[in-house]
Amino acid sequence: MTDALRTAAIDILKINDRGQYTVPTKGLYPFQWNWDSCLTALGQCHFDEARAWTEIETLFGHQWPCGMVPHIIFHQMDDGYFPGPLVWGTNRPVPTSGITQPAVAGFALKRLFDRAQDQAAATARVRALLPKVAAWHRWFYATRDPQGEGLVAILHPWEAGRDNSVDWDDPFARVPTEGIAPYTRRDTLHADPSHRPTKEQYDRYLWLVEHFRSLDWDTSKMHDASPFQVVDPGFNAILIRSCADLADLAAQVGDDALADENRRYAARGLAAMESLWSDGHGQYLCRDRITGQLIDSPSVGGILAAFCAIPPERAARIAATIDGHGTRYTVASHPPQDARFDAKRYWRGPVWLVVNYMIADGLARAGQGRTAARISADSLELIHKGGFAEYYDPMTGEALGGGQFTWTAAMVLEFLAHDS
Ligand code: DGY
Repeated sequence: MTDALRTAAIDILKINDRGQYTVPTKGLYPFQWNWDSCLTALGQCHFDEARAWTEIETLFGHQWPCGMVPHIIFHQMDDGYFPGPLVWGTNRPVPTSGITQPAVAGFALKRLFDRAQDQAAATARVRALLPKVAAWHRWFYATRDPQGEGLVAILHPWEAGRDNSVDWDDPFARVPTEGIAPYTRRDTLHADPSHRPTKEQYDRYLWLVEHFRSLDWDTSKMHDASPFQVVDPGFNAILIRSCADLADLAAQVGDDALADENRRYAARGLAAMESLWSDGHGQYLCRDRITGQLIDSPSVGGILAAFCAIPPERAARIAATIDGHGTRYTVASHPPQDARFDAKRYWRGPVWLVVNYMIADGLARAGQGRTAARISADSLELIHKGGFAEYYDPMTGEALGGGQFTWTAAMVLEFLAHDS
């Protein structure tokens, strides 16, 4: 059974492989996505180490001069997706979006390096990628943490990757819906509209895109000009973990300056994470940087915080919080006890394997092996039941969203490797 699952996962990674990059899934997402690619590389390294490095190298080949790594690279035109390159209007040699995504690259690089069979090739590839990933981290703290608090803000829900999370409902209400150019969605042609974000959310996504475009995508101006600035614990935990991993990697290949710099970011970020802790919810919460208030939404972003080295007692509380969800499959992206929970709508309830993978990894490191093992077992059971979907109903296990999903397949290879 395990062998069949492994073969099926590899097939999906190959079907979605476009040579130098992998699409998340045919139709719904026909380009290269930032964090998808970095996590995909972890799956690829189980059967083609060289190809895994290429996935990340291709992404960083489109890094902006300021250091930002965009969330989408539009390698080839495809009318099946909206908003395409003309809407973004970022004026890049190869068109890209103008916002970023969770910084998993540092973590992925370290994992690829530690596992590499071909150490000489891995060292050469790491040496070339290290300064690029470090420039991205530097860009984050310079442009998204202007007051130097140690935590960065996202300026668009798509940056967190959790597009329609309940986390954004309140701060997003501040973003206008009027004045945007007429548009036609394409995502609802590929997936059930009742499992996707609403029209009102799309209006706001686009308002922000047009607003940033009016600033000529000057990333040094976007933070202060944005009506949406949210400090997300999940997003910050990924960045902090990547800074810590990049620091270790830099030290391993003898780059002490980059190691020191990234160690500083990680230490400052970890200390600042404490300001997002909620004892009442037993997890971290987002902070709306415009109001300065924590957002009362106990979503999976605050559980994903366990991906960085949070104190062990916090990890234990988070493990208990996951148990408290009481869902058949862990980890729901929003707790069913909250009235805003929706078992089938994208990030408002469904389970996502990538998030499960990072939570399980963090909890295992923090000594919460039992919960980590349950998350891993639930994840594989979902695949047995429903195939390699984009996301899953946490109550019934129903497969939802796009099918033959690349990062789901990559995570299956990771979970299987840990199991064996
Ligand atoms: C989408 O188009 O649904 C994406 O999540 C934006 O990156």
